[in-house]
Amino acid sequence: MMNDTANHVPHVPVLYHQIISALRPASPGFYVDATIGAGGHALGILEESSPRGQLLGLDVDPLALELSLQRLHLFKHRIHLVHSSYTELHATLLSLGWNLVDGIVIDLGVSSMQIDTPQRGFSFQHDGPLDMRFDPAQPVSAEDIVNHSPESELADIIWRYGEDREARRIARLIVQNRPFNTTLELASAISRNIRHHPGAIHPATRTFQALRIAVNRELEGLEVFLPQAVQSLKSGGRLAVISFHSLEDRIVKQYFRIESRDCICPPGQPVCTCGHHASIKEINRRPITADPDEIATNVRARSAKLRVIEKI
Ligand SMILES: C[S@@+](CC[C@H](N)C(=O)[O-])C[C@H]1O[C@@H](n2cnc3c(N)ncnc32)[C@H](O)[C@@H]1O
Repeated sequence: MMNDTANHVPHVPVLYHQIISALRPASPGFYVDATIGAGGHALGILEESSPRGQLLGLDVDPLALELSLQRLHLFKHRIHLVHSSYTELHATLLSLGWNLVDGIVIDLGVSSMQIDTPQRGFSFQHDGPLDMRFDPAQPVSAEDIVNHSPESELADIIWRYGEDREARRIARLIVQNRPFNTTLELASAISRNIRHHPGAIHPATRTFQALRIAVNRELEGLEVFLPQAVQSLKSGGRLAVISFHSLEDRIVKQYFRIESRDCICPPGQPVCTCGHHASIKEINRRPITADPDEIATNVRARSAKLRVIEKI
């Protein structure tokens, strides 16, 4: 059982019980939390896999690793926390001497600690630098993209990752009014210039989401991670992916559909020539979503989608 409550921890894990029942942690299994954040899912995995289950926790944000180390100190002999991207999963497992693992969870997106820290620049609810990097050592920040990208590239980012119909107008106003140094400067320029209806979401919401995805190359990272995760599972091992954005969910869904099929020849081809074999089975065809009680207490849960597969 989870010990902490929302009052004691800065980030409440979404779909916690669903993750634990998907991964079925047990002693002496090997587990990976590819985005450890505040360690909420990790705590449950460690508790359920007592007394000998081991957990590798990854994060590119050094503060998340510090926080989860404090929170999981009771399990310090069973955890390995590594400052590394989930795109390096395979190499990190090799460096630990771990071969195949029993379960992997990845909980995409931004944590409450990151959103609520103005200096990280993820939110326009507070004023802060236009940063948005999960890994503060990474060279490209939101400020670089906003102040130096050509207008067409900005429009593509806002259109593709923000799915904002006003993408072209927003890109033009950014280029005409830059440089921007802070989150509030950018958000108020968008709000002054882009029509919006009272009660609708803030007109900068989608631009901020798009910039964050572009800064951290989130979709590319997910595409690199998924095959490494599947290859790293033992037979019967499980991978659970929580996504928050329709583009992420589409990548996960398509990858799982292809890898769970024995033949991926084009439809209508009379004889199979692809030689493809299913490596996974889908545990749920439709994504698992949060129930109304969870959504009522944790707004992040509203758009969460969980897909789970099992290695054949
Ligand atoms: C939604 S939070 C995870 C919360 C966690 N499940 C919990 O229960 O506290 C997502 C985390 O992923 C981290 N992250 C983002 N990109 C990453 C990457 N490429 N590799 C590893 N971690 C990453 C972020 O820094 C953030 O801490």
